[in-house]
Amino acid sequence: MHRTIWAVAITLAATILAACGGGEATSEGASEDGAGTAGAEQAEAAPEEVPSPPQPWASMSPQDKAAWMQAEVLPRMSVMFREFDEERYARVTCATCHGPGAASGDFAMPSNALPALPPTGSPEQRAMVAQYGPMLRFMFNHVMPTTQTLVGGEDFDEATGGGFSCFSCHPHQGDEGSTMIELAAPEEDAGGEAAE
Ligand code: HEC
Ligand code: HEC
Repeated sequence: MHRTIWAVAITLAATILAACGGGEATSEGASEDGAGTAGAEQAEAAPEEVPSPPQPWASMSPQDKAAWMQAEVLPRMSVMFREFDEERYARVTCATCHGPGAASGDFAMPSNALPALPPTGSPEQRAMVAQYGPMLRFMFNHVMPTTQTLVGGEDFDEATGGGFSCFSCHPHQGDEGSTMIELAAPEEDAGGEAAE
């Protein structure tokens, strides 16, 4: 049941990328500081240097997972989110992903503190794509793959629906206790009755 939705979300993201041409790779990390090409290379090569946990994630204790999050996940993701939007993500904490429950030790994922995402083909999905383009590309190109590596997550498997995906963090639309992502009025509001 959820399988289809998972597959769908990835397809959605891939579609977004295709539609957007993916031409936003930056080359601005190339500030030369006397270190020759090495400096620029490091800045650009960062994603490949993302470490995976020292042992299989599933076999780690909650304490070890928290320590790994603190040491490797939070620092890297803080930088990444700030690069995307410095103001909005001036302060990235455990709660940015895990929600306010993190303060009391609730680290369950997906987190209902994150917006629930709609299924494919729905008007909500179209509205989301229209509204959140840059954010979706950031999620798909950076947040999702980096976090997957950081927790040693399996690749998403379209056939089985298993593996790491958007829904490793975000709930599905309609999940109990979740809050649907905020969407503007649907485009095909042909009647035009909505005053705003
Ligand atoms: C970028 C998002 C992100 C941030 C920031 C983050 N986490 Fe996580 N965390 C995750 C994801 C995703 C998982 C689930 C991995 C999985 O099992 O697939 C997780 C899992 C965990 C778990 C294991 C939960 C369980 O039920 O097995 C703990 C504990 C944890 N995080 C603690 C922390 C702590 C402590 C911090 C801050 C120092 C933190 N996390 C910051 C994304 C994040
Ligand atoms: C590692 C956890 C994680 C993964 C994986 C992830 N997200 Fe996110 N997502 C977040 C966090 C954290 C935020 C920021 C929430 C905030 O600003 O408070 C976010 C924000 C968003 C937003 C913006 C919401 C808003 O109100 O501005 C959208 C849209 C979104 N994600 C979609 C996706 C999609 C689609 C995928 C899969 C391609 C995905 N996310 C994968 C953690 C994740």
